[in-house]
Amino acid sequence: MNTPCQAPKAGSYRLGSPAVIGMENLWVKFWYKARGEAPSRSRRKQLPRAEPGLASQHRSRFIQDISNFRLLIQGWWIMMRKSMGIGGLLAIFVFGVVAEVDFISRKLDFGLSVAPLTQGLLVIVLTAIVVAFRIRKPPKMDLPPGPMALPIVGNWLQVGNSLKHRKLAEMSKTYGDVFMLKMGKKNLVIVSSPEAAKDVLHTQGVEFASRTRNAVFDIFAGKGQDMVFSNYGDHWRRMRRIMAVPFFTNKVVQHAHFAWEDEVDLVVKDLEARPESSTTGIVIRQRLQLMMYNIIYRMMFNSRFENEQDPLYLNLKALNGERCRLPAQNSKYNYADFIPILQPFLKGFLKICQEVRDKRLALFKERFVDERRKLVNEAGVTNIGDKCAIDYMLEAQKRGEITEGNVLYLIENINVAAIESTLMAIEWGIAELVNHPEVQKRIRNELDEVLGEGNLVSESDTHNNKLPFLTAVVKETLRLHMPIPLLVPHMNVKQAKLAGYDIPAESKILVNAWWIGNNPDLWDQPEKFMPERFLAAEFTEAKSIDFRFLPFGAGRRSCPGSVMAMPLMAIVLGRIVQKFDLLPSPGLTKVDVTEQGGQFSLHIATHSTVITRPRA
Ligand code: HEM
Repeated sequence: MNTPCQAPKAGSYRLGSPAVIGMENLWVKFWYKARGEAPSRSRRKQLPRAEPGLASQHRSRFIQDISNFRLLIQGWWIMMRKSMGIGGLLAIFVFGVVAEVDFISRKLDFGLSVAPLTQGLLVIVLTAIVVAFRIRKPPKMDLPPGPMALPIVGNWLQVGNSLKHRKLAEMSKTYGDVFMLKMGKKNLVIVSSPEAAKDVLHTQGVEFASRTRNAVFDIFAGKGQDMVFSNYGDHWRRMRRIMAVPFFTNKVVQHAHFAWEDEVDLVVKDLEARPESSTTGIVIRQRLQLMMYNIIYRMMFNSRFENEQDPLYLNLKALNGERCRLPAQNSKYNYADFIPILQPFLKGFLKICQEVRDKRLALFKERFVDERRKLVNEAGVTNIGDKCAIDYMLEAQKRGEITEGNVLYLIENINVAAIESTLMAIEWGIAELVNHPEVQKRIRNELDEVLGEGNLVSESDTHNNKLPFLTAVVKETLRLHMPIPLLVPHMNVKQAKLAGYDIPAESKILVNAWWIGNNPDLWDQPEKFMPERFLAAEFTEAKSIDFRFLPFGAGRRSCPGSVMAMPLMAIVLGRIVQKFDLLPSPGLTKVDVTEQGGQFSLHIATHSTVITRPRA
């Protein structure tokens, strides 16, 4: 029960400026509300209005004023405590004291009067504080640890623009397996242990299965019209289902591997035909790049490029290169990602991204999709040889499941995800083989032993641990030189829990798969290329996913292309080693394996010149 007390009257003590009188009336309202007697509109109108100017000179009235003031403060206290908490109340208290000092000093002529302008300003500032506090504060979160963040820029100055695997690994030693960086507007959560990775990718796979968006990837992925950068949901499921049939099943691999082996043999023939490849050496990446384009374009469009000088191939390669290079300009990309308000200053950069996107999509459409569509319409899909991935996409489009835009963005995804990452991995593998002749020898021995001398390794040999050492070489290459070291960033649509911490909604989650695969606490001499580590029973006999080894991620958003990337790597490395001795350039004992990149992809800094000397 409220104790009966006298309702204050607005204007019963007046503090001078109209702004303060306004506040005074507000206090009256709160007083009534605090007592559960909120006056109706009409009742409020009946309340005596405050008159501007100083009020009563009367001493008894002054005492009444003081007592009313106490009641008002009491009313405010109850009201405000409900809506604002202690901070807001303190602000009001300061205001009350200042106003009262003003009031008393005017009455008693102390000359301490606060000028009306100051009062007005005080009212504005304090009202702003009240409003800020009244907007319900979200419940306090127990955020992951991390360096102290500055306003606006957050941790940007400490971290800089290179959010790379090694730097993040270093930071995890200070801040732990799950730590947080505030980068401008965005929260970044960095995950650096197998346990936390399992939680993100598997246990809470659905919660963390979406992707973050930003201005640059909105351009390249058509605001989620694609598959790789779309949020987890119906659209993503549909896209993945449509792409699974022509790309991501064992059946596809069993069918497509003839073309892969064909392309590898053409590489071998080309290398044999070039005299310099066995003397001064060649940059082998360039020929392997053509091989990867041909493997993927055969699967996608049933088409291939004749040689490295093919103008269409050169055009395509240049545009794909630009697509990968532009986001990798870390500073501009990061501004667009972390401080969207700065986008007007990035107009030039974003315009270039748009131009590259438009040119690429136009090229995909005019030179591949439309040509294939025409061929199918004229001859019928059954009469034009193998059904390829684009046929499945166009059928889905005809059924109304996806749009033409979706088809083009799917092609864009495969160009980036399939070709470049596999090429990087093969190039790393070749470099390590050059630097480890004993590993080349051991692969040959295994192949001779298992397949018989002269028989080239083929796709069917890469399963069921038939060639454990070759498989171990592939895995060790991917562990030491993970092509996508932080995976593709994940995102939680809603607030979530991870390792006991609160993860704010829409955080960008980076799983540092490279560090998990290279942490000396988890691996013996991780900096060394030692394929034999993967011969241990814990790897060969493991039935479940080992979260220490995540070159393809795991769970819902894991790489669906691993089903072809692993056997393909084994075939390429195996056949090249069967045919050639791999050596560094004349005068060198090793090829340089310095790495470059790390925020998106990790590639060899200097494309190695390698001597491929045919074996007798
Ligand atoms: C050595 C070669 C490859 C590596 C290292 C690799 C690695 C990865 C990684 C780390 C991811 C992200 C996983 C995550 O976010 O949790 C990914 C996603 C993806 N990869 Fe691969 N990949 C390779 C080859 C391929 C190939 C050959 C294809 C296609 C034929 C492919 C298609 C994709 C697609 C479509 C996604 C997006 C999956 C999704 O968001 O649902 N990748 N890959």
